[in-house]
Amino acid sequence: MKKSGKREFGEVFYGRHGTPTTFALQDTVARVEGGWRSFAFSSGKAAILAALMGFLVSGDHLLMVDSAYGPSRELAKGLLKRFGVTHTLYDPLIGAGIEELMQPNTRVVFTESPGSITFEMQDMPAIAKVAHKAGATVITDNTWASPLLCDPFSLGADVSVQAGTKYIVGHSDAMLGMVTVNEKSYEPVKQAFEDLGASPGPDDCYLGLRGMRTLSVRLERQGKTGLKLARWLAKRPEVARVLHPALPDDPGYKIWRRDFKGASGLFGVVLNPVSEKAVAALLDGFELFGMGYSWGGYESLAIPTYPHKIRETSEWDPAFPCLRFHAGLEHPDDLIADLEKGFERLNKAKPRKAKKRG
Ligand SMILES: Cc1ncc(COP(=O)(O)O)c(C=O)c1O
Repeated sequence: MKKSGKREFGEVFYGRHGTPTTFALQDTVARVEGGWRSFAFSSGKAAILAALMGFLVSGDHLLMVDSAYGPSRELAKGLLKRFGVTHTLYDPLIGAGIEELMQPNTRVVFTESPGSITFEMQDMPAIAKVAHKAGATVITDNTWASPLLCDPFSLGADVSVQAGTKYIVGHSDAMLGMVTVNEKSYEPVKQAFEDLGASPGPDDCYLGLRGMRTLSVRLERQGKTGLKLARWLAKRPEVARVLHPALPDDPGYKIWRRDFKGASGLFGVVLNPVSEKAVAALLDGFELFGMGYSWGGYESLAIPTYPHKIRETSEWDPAFPCLRFHAGLEHPDDLIADLEKGFERLNKAKPRKAKKRG
């Protein structure tokens, strides 16, 4: 403790504010992601809340991307609203056009790129330029890229959130959140970190730290497998569109090439119109793809998604069922064989066309 009574960052003082294991994880993530310092939380959701609470007070306005992880949007619509913060959901493709949505009291612009479920890429530098001109803080959810594949600070973010539960932990066996900051955003986030008390235990921090040691090899494999599956799926007659920013014909490809160092293993698929029963036949019979919401672990996952029920700034036709895939560490050929059998089940479950009478 210094004479002033002010605690140094990384000083052992009280377990909730961090142990040596917490500090080792925080330092590692901050360095790898390109930020100044990092704070560890007990979940990604707690990290998102802390980042928002650090910068918003009653009477402020928040610009939240419409393609944000559902519970981030729910914070804007629920808890933050109750505490007097207003918000506007904006189209992820808005770019510099966000200027028109800025209000005199807009204090935070929240981005997530690619977007949850629908995978739109955001022009972060264009958005950050507008936000900073107005004195607003840019917070981004960088979980898709992990701390390794995108340096959000070089793109203009002030604060980056990671659901460490996903790629950082990497084995679906612990929950963790990280908020990494630039120097000027340090104090407000530190205050929110201490106020919330949503600290992870040292064992979970240890698992996060261990995950950081193998992140690069896992991501390389999962990114490659994801792209292989995405390319295979794009050729299937049952598939209308694959939502993956690293595919050259994806609308977000140029931004992804410019801003990211690689792809992780999470992407979306839009099927051609088919019954719910047929989609269930596809998903329910997989041998390797599990059905789970929390991705970023070693196993492959497939779930149905419902953007038409959630999106407010873009139209999604409910006749075209949507899925989200996560590529795990299994052999890609085994995954493709599993998918192939899945499409056989889907086609069998389709209602047969009535034969014309001769
Ligand atoms: C993009 C994104 N951000 C944040 C979270 C929240 O993370 P956690 O499950 O650790 O609360 C998730 C979880 O699915 C997510 O997908």
